[in-house]
Amino acid sequence: MARHLVHFRRGLPGDDPIFLLNAEAQRRKAAGEDILNATVGALLDDGGRLVVLDVVMELWRELGEMEVAPYAPIAGDPAFLRGITNLHWPQVEGVAAGVATPGGSGALALTVRNFLEPGMALLTARPFWGPYQTIAEEDGLRVETAPWLGYGEGPGLDLDAWEEKARALMSQQDRLLVWLNDPCHNPTGRSLPGPDRRNLLGLLSRLADRGPVTLLLDSAYQDYASDPAAVHEAMSDYAALGAEGKVQVGASLSLSKSLTLYGSRGGALVFPWCKDPEVQPALTMSCRGLFSNCPRAPQSLVVRLLQDGRALERLALEHRHWSEVLRGRAQALETALRTEGMAGEVWDGGFFTTLRLTEHREVFERLRTRGVFVVPLPEGLRVGLCGLRAADAPRFARALREACA
Ligand SMILES: Cc1ncc(COP(=O)(O)O)c(C=O)c1O
Repeated sequence: MARHLVHFRRGLPGDDPIFLLNAEAQRRKAAGEDILNATVGALLDDGGRLVVLDVVMELWRELGEMEVAPYAPIAGDPAFLRGITNLHWPQVEGVAAGVATPGGSGALALTVRNFLEPGMALLTARPFWGPYQTIAEEDGLRVETAPWLGYGEGPGLDLDAWEEKARALMSQQDRLLVWLNDPCHNPTGRSLPGPDRRNLLGLLSRLADRGPVTLLLDSAYQDYASDPAAVHEAMSDYAALGAEGKVQVGASLSLSKSLTLYGSRGGALVFPWCKDPEVQPALTMSCRGLFSNCPRAPQSLVVRLLQDGRALERLALEHRHWSEVLRGRAQALETALRTEGMAGEVWDGGFFTTLRLTEHREVFERLRTRGVFVVPLPEGLRVGLCGLRAADAPRFARALREACA
């Protein structure tokens, strides 16, 4: 057989463990088994239905044909770029460089393409969202990691490990690209506490004396935070670093979770404080070459949203409601784990938590035979609070204790 592919770096999409586990959970459920499926990555209500924010759907239905049908500008609608940025940094008055992207994934992909050369490595926290690896490999890059909160020496951020890894990468490649999924990290559900965050930013700022440093905040879950004030404080710190101008601070912004518009593929890559005049044209040309332009409808929706104070208030209320639901689920899980004599995990926000257990691979398999599905990571077991009802926490914890015995 003629081999037409020039390379075959990865498995098939269907080999993805989450995909496989989800499919198995659904098959066994359809066959009548009592299944607890905590592998889901989208927010489900307690009836197991996908949550779709009411105010977002109302705005979607109001979109007129000229807000949906025409091509969007290649770099994206400037009002959308400003609007989506203001949802994260309300104080930003103009986006110095930015493009619309197909979801946050598209934004991440543009950063590896534009800020590193093939063969180089980006730096992120461990554990990380699995597709980071695929996105990096797609452009011939590697993923290097430093430990996230509690995964290195001590309970906080292991700054020494970050310093060592970041310095090594800077020495090897004369540049650094850091992806930081903070606040509300997937898969741990933790956010960097202020002192850890400021230490890390100080380190990046010092490294910027040696070569270009880009800090890309992967902002996927922060609307579902336990404490919105802490998110605000974090974003102010990141903004201050960006405004200082030494580190290039940007964000990959996604409408998937924030507006529950997963399938609309809306998102953006923005560098609000960018000083380099070459960045905007480079990003625009990448868009042209990769996907020409992005869907118009989600961009129009964000523009409408930002012009409608009442809709913004309703959105904030809906985010609060679902954040409370997630917090209730996290608390129920923690209580149930403690009742079974196991340690709970702190949850600051987002859709997931990751349980650190010894021999977690074996525990994962034993849970699976009991009809309880979680995602095994190298560092622990990811539990999707987004799909695990508080009422199911006691059963989950019981099954886990038995699986650990
Ligand atoms: C950590 C993280 N970053 C980015 C994304 C990007 O999502 P999307 O491409 O749907 O915007 C996700 C989605 O699950 C995620 O979990």
